[in-house]
Amino acid sequence: MTLLREDGGILAVLELERLFGHRYYGFPVDEEELERAFSRGYAELLDQAGIIHRGAKNGGEKILHKICVLPAAAAGKALETIMKKTLRCASWKFAGHHQSHAAQAFYDAPFRSALVLSYDGGGDVHQNFEVYLGKKRTSSSTPSFLELVMVHKMNLGTVYQECATYLQEVTGDKVRKEQYNRALSGKMMGYLALGKERPEWASPLERVYRGIASQETALRDLLGKAPTIPEQRDFAASCQTVFEQILFEVFDEHLTLYPSVDGIVVSGGCALNVLSNRKLQLRYGLPFHVSPAPNDSGLSLGGAQIFTPPLDTRGSAPPAPSMYLGPLLFDRHAVPAYIEMAGLGYGARTVDVEDLASILNDGAIIAVVRGRSEFGPRALGHRSLIAVPHLPEIKQKMNRLKFREWWRPVAPMVTLEDAKRYVQSSISGFCVFVFIFLPWLTDQSLLFFSLSRDRVFAGCS
Ligand SMILES: [Fe+2]
Repeated sequence: MTLLREDGGILAVLELERLFGHRYYGFPVDEEELERAFSRGYAELLDQAGIIHRGAKNGGEKILHKICVLPAAAAGKALETIMKKTLRCASWKFAGHHQSHAAQAFYDAPFRSALVLSYDGGGDVHQNFEVYLGKKRTSSSTPSFLELVMVHKMNLGTVYQECATYLQEVTGDKVRKEQYNRALSGKMMGYLALGKERPEWASPLERVYRGIASQETALRDLLGKAPTIPEQRDFAASCQTVFEQILFEVFDEHLTLYPSVDGIVVSGGCALNVLSNRKLQLRYGLPFHVSPAPNDSGLSLGGAQIFTPPLDTRGSAPPAPSMYLGPLLFDRHAVPAYIEMAGLGYGARTVDVEDLASILNDGAIIAVVRGRSEFGPRALGHRSLIAVPHLPEIKQKMNRLKFREWWRPVAPMVTLEDAKRYVQSSISGFCVFVFIFLPWLTDQSLLFFSLSRDRVFAGCS
């Protein structure tokens, strides 16, 4: 849920999964439950924006919104009815799924014109891959535009996830899981470092990605009835390689058609793929932006920005202005009481930076909570677990703490000043690209961050 000012400034953004403590939260189907969830989200949004809402039921005045935006492919007619009952709006608009993805990422980018590609495993009426051209407004008298220029009939996100369901070490099961599980794609992205792509699988996989062959039949035939673990690892690597090859073809085509854009923007759930993002960035050498919330967590913000785009008066706004728009701690008012309670029995105390360094060096894992939380799925320093990487077993300890598999990577932190000593690629503060290490780093040091594969580590915690 998002609340914008008339000039496009962001008043409040709320990821419902953070409010309800449920990953990949979707609105409930039951109408009463849906109404309760919507009302709770709306109240939290107003609270975050500092707006006191006097509802009609209390005899007060309702908030009047100039424009309210609904998702085009309904989270259902029921949501539309509830929204129209709850909100007093001057006009109602509908926003497309990928149109919203594209807008959120485009207005987050630090350049004025862009080719925007949005691709994932969902969308409106089987449209899962859309391409837009965008130009931002630079004064109140000039319009912004974000025009759809192409729809590709491919569902890359669903096929990628389907590949992951065949991997025992990823699903944690001996048999393939049938259920839809969005977490599997991200897991496979880290896991595939264990395998090596097999060229003979490229063509059949491409047919599946392009929708020419049936996902289930073709993938099962490819792997056979009882694939070994090494085969499964290679399969994961092959699924990634073919995914990237298809992206290269699509990007090549559109950059030939529109070569004069200031930069490239990618969005949609598949833009969480930090491996393909880096390869695309290196391939084209143009400014390349991925927002920290390219997946469905950014949809409501993007949907609202379609109708109230922000004004870009600077030309090079700081990248990712949306990164810390998440909520404050919901129980922040109780924190002093928690500290007092902890102090009674557990020795809570105030520490300085040197104390923290010493505690970390002794092998502790520390939780960082700072101001507003991240907006989007990446841990960017406001809600993070940190540890010292060179300590033995520390990665295993971190993965145990987070209930993660042994092969899951974590993200390194390094100061901008020191970064050039470790990585040869450009630096991103948003966990949206893999980095490429300098050769002097040993495999041993790489092992903390991930399994070394071409000296690239994948993923962020
Ligand atoms: Fe999406």
